[in-house]
Amino acid sequence: MTNPLTDPADFVRAETALAHPPLVPEIQLYLADAITPIWEATEATLAASGVPPPYWAFAWPGGQALARHILDNPALVAGRRVLDFAAGSGLGAIAAAKAGAAAVTANDIDAFAAAAIRLNAAANAVSVAVATENLLDHDDPGVDLVLAGDICYERPLAGRVEAWLKRLARRGTTVLLGDPGRAYLPRDGLEPLARYAVPTTRELEDQEVRDTVVWRVTG
Ligand SMILES: C[S@@+](CC[C@H](N)C(=O)[O-])C[C@H]1O[C@@H](n2cnc3c(N)ncnc32)[C@H](O)[C@@H]1O
Repeated sequence: MTNPLTDPADFVRAETALAHPPLVPEIQLYLADAITPIWEATEATLAASGVPPPYWAFAWPGGQALARHILDNPALVAGRRVLDFAAGSGLGAIAAAKAGAAAVTANDIDAFAAAAIRLNAAANAVSVAVATENLLDHDDPGVDLVLAGDICYERPLAGRVEAWLKRLARRGTTVLLGDPGRAYLPRDGLEPLARYAVPTTRELEDQEVRDTVVWRVTG
């Protein structure tokens, strides 16, 4: 087991392997094939130092639905500046880059996610800028389109994200949210664009397939 305190990129490479998310097989990512060992590797060593769980080692249903939607509808991103907020593995950012976005930034506050995103972008031969600051305090991320995959899973994060995304939408930014029916999905200000059945595992989810919707946030 690798010590994640050494170098985040070494930890990502040691605890994962390149694999293809089921709904987006044209993309490869450094993914964990089972949740328990990597979760324990992170928690055992780092519980005291407050490193977050390795969300970046999985392609969550919300992110997979967003990536599928972008790859099948490249006009959504072509020539536009795209931000993948709370990017995790960077799946949404990589899909946007492959679909012809003018510039792509993946943002995640977890330094291990940042390392995973860099490795994943390189594995797919696309250019993605990585940012780790907390953008929730900034009202203008300077992009045309924001992607937010699977971020409605816990309070108070979901409430802060909802308010931020709605502000951006009201200011004219296109905001797309991928969500498999998480507990804190906003109750209003959403318009459905597409629906996907995303294969998953019982280890991660309570179902083998998650019915996942790509929403446009209307503000
Ligand atoms: C469930 S994962 C989703 C990852 C990816 N979007 C996907 O769908 O596969 C949630 C991610 O949100 C990130 N996150 C949490 N709070 C954040 C914040 N304030 N700003 C940016 N990212 C954040 C976590 O580090 C984690 O990687």
